[in-house]
Amino acid sequence: MNPPTVLLLPDVPLQSLNTFGLPARAAWFAAIESPAQLAGLIARPEWKRLRRFVLGGGSNLILAGDFDGLVLYVRISGRERVAEDADAWFVRAGAGENWHDFVSWTLDRGWPGLENLALIPGTVGAAPVQNIGAYGLEMAERFYCLEAVDLATGETVFLDRAACRFGYRDSVFKREAAGCFLITAVTFRLPKRWQPVMGYADVARELDMQGIAKPTARDVAGAVIAIRSCKLPDPAQIGNAGSFFKNPQVDAATFKSLIARHPDLPHYPQPDGTVKLAAGWLIERCGWKGKNLGPAGVYERQALVLVNRGGARGEDVLRLAQAIQASVRAMFGVDLEPEPVVLGL
Ligand code: EPU
Repeated sequence: MNPPTVLLLPDVPLQSLNTFGLPARAAWFAAIESPAQLAGLIARPEWKRLRRFVLGGGSNLILAGDFDGLVLYVRISGRERVAEDADAWFVRAGAGENWHDFVSWTLDRGWPGLENLALIPGTVGAAPVQNIGAYGLEMAERFYCLEAVDLATGETVFLDRAACRFGYRDSVFKREAAGCFLITAVTFRLPKRWQPVMGYADVARELDMQGIAKPTARDVAGAVIAIRSCKLPDPAQIGNAGSFFKNPQVDAATFKSLIARHPDLPHYPQPDGTVKLAAGWLIERCGWKGKNLGPAGVYERQALVLVNRGGARGEDVLRLAQAIQASVRAMFGVDLEPEPVVLGL
């Protein structure tokens, strides 16, 4: 049987497909609804000469300009429980599924484990790329394996946790394997002996305020949703890509001299002896919170989030990001690394 054909659309606007709302166009665009469709596309003669970019929910993306290649817009759907053993449920979802809808669906079925990651924008397929994390949990802790198509050969590959090389907001897909694969489905391992992850002070405080002493997974999700809704701008209202920078990690000596000068600096010691700092605090101390540079700005309730005040282009956002990096470097001697992927430079 011939694989189903995919329409290659020319000159497609991407503004509504990135949560920052940045204007840019793709020279070519294809919506991928199944691995078979992708295989059909890879077999076509024009495939080899086109640069390509895999687009999910566009929630961790800065479009710096037009893209002269082919955007592969992942629309692969489906969610199912694929296996169960004495310790866990194994749940698989198509890469194009909305992340938060998937989390809600698992909780509705009584499979806990992803509740701390509720309300993160984006798709299931994008979650492993930057190993999404929030409120004391990283996706890697619930990840089992993923299926992906090798964009050079068209072959399907299965990658386990070790192969994905997850780190803090990091994976092989942002490094050695950048641009090599299109993730088609992800399987999670959700523990039957569930314990709430309550290490993050905000979550414990929110549950306490709600008078909940023994939270269910749904309660934790509710608390996370309340905190996120209060601190982070809804991309449907204000364009943004969540945290714009990673929280920087510094060595012990650097930390010692920083804390001597700034005793109230929030910090999180890491197992390897380094110390993670709160980038939002550093940015706020530089006076950027609530400030604008042209049509791009720093969110007034969370300085780590850059926002589109209306009509911003990629270059406006990057100019603001560079100005913030320069301030933080000048005041603290710390380099901030952007978290989103930048496309079109
Ligand atoms: N802070 C400030 N000023 C600010 C923002 C933060 O002083 O404007 C201080 C806070 O008071 C707190 C510390 O910085 O002491 C940390 O702030 P927060 O709890 O808001 O978390 P974050 O470190 O800024 C990280 C993730 C978020 C995630 C939250 C909760 C990164 C880059 N960001 O933010 O992830 O939701 O923790 O776990 O690790 C994302 O990656 O897009 C994202 C939103």
